[in-house]
Amino acid sequence: MEVSEKLAPSPSQFSLRTITYKDAYADLANDVFKGLSANPKTLAPKYFYDAHGSRLFDKICDTKEYYPTRIEDALLASSAVKIMESARPAHIIELGSGVSKKTRHLLDACEHLNLSIDYHPVDICGEIIEQAGLHLSQSYEWLNIKGVVADYCDDMTTLPDHDEPRLFVFLGGTFGNFHELEAIQFLEQLKSIMRPDDRFLLGFDRIKDHDVLNLAYNDRAGLTASFNRNVLAVINRELSANFDLEAFEHDAWFNEKESRIEMHLRSTKAQKVRIESINLDVEFDADETILTEISRKFTPDHIKTLLQKSGMKVTDHFQPANNYFSLVMAQPESVLL
Ligand code: AVJ
Repeated sequence: MEVSEKLAPSPSQFSLRTITYKDAYADLANDVFKGLSANPKTLAPKYFYDAHGSRLFDKICDTKEYYPTRIEDALLASSAVKIMESARPAHIIELGSGVSKKTRHLLDACEHLNLSIDYHPVDICGEIIEQAGLHLSQSYEWLNIKGVVADYCDDMTTLPDHDEPRLFVFLGGTFGNFHELEAIQFLEQLKSIMRPDDRFLLGFDRIKDHDVLNLAYNDRAGLTASFNRNVLAVINRELSANFDLEAFEHDAWFNEKESRIEMHLRSTKAQKVRIESINLDVEFDADETILTEISRKFTPDHIKTLLQKSGMKVTDHFQPANNYFSLVMAQPESVLL
């Protein structure tokens, strides 16, 4: 494992640590090789998020169709003080922090309660942590921001470890990117690094009217379509491939049976794509698709069961009047001796 520590020149309250426990490039090369040799073809959603993809996602969050951000933001605004009061953490560790906008409600609650905390944004994209860090440091002069560039699913033992209580935060419904087994593995891994005083705040998207779901992943401005195609641009750049982005169409729809949005890229014609760095020729039939993301929608009971299976228990549940989205607080189940 290689850990490099670098301090951003200014401001002094911000630092960024990059954890490369695996060769990220080899990871991408392997995943792309496997995913595009498989039938049906797939790509992992984490590869959307280079600097451009992270910014596109931030823009999606501002569209009127994409309700999750708005709803979760309002939920956090109304419940942050309760959350921070019951967790009383010294550290907030946010997985997949992105631009860290919604996190501001938690930081405001810290100010309100006079809690002094360190904030550890963890994201796969270093540029977006830097951007978030610079903005946050302007609003919260007291706050130490200790960014971590990492794929948080890989090895949670490299996450900031402290004796004082930590609040792990996983917002936006990103949990929905996991298949059932991955979800359990994620929670079990998290539980295994949690101490009794640590808490977990999880945001998840709910099952709802299909039109609302479908629109959220098909915004009129076409931002989600660009975000989807961006994974091909990432592969072109990183693996010297020749994907023609125009020859793939964005296709996203709610799969009721699986209770998930599926996002695909549909080949508009029969075509062959060359991926030089991994020496792979990929053939597409007309209308053949690549599954680029699943975004699962849950019931609160399902989440409760998943947490229980992983040795955690729900202590609080916050939901809006329309039940569009949920936040749950959980803690490690105490083991009676
Ligand atoms: C960042 C995974 C929560 O699944 O809704 C948004 C990603 N994809 N529009 C989601 C996404 C298309 C988003 N998450």
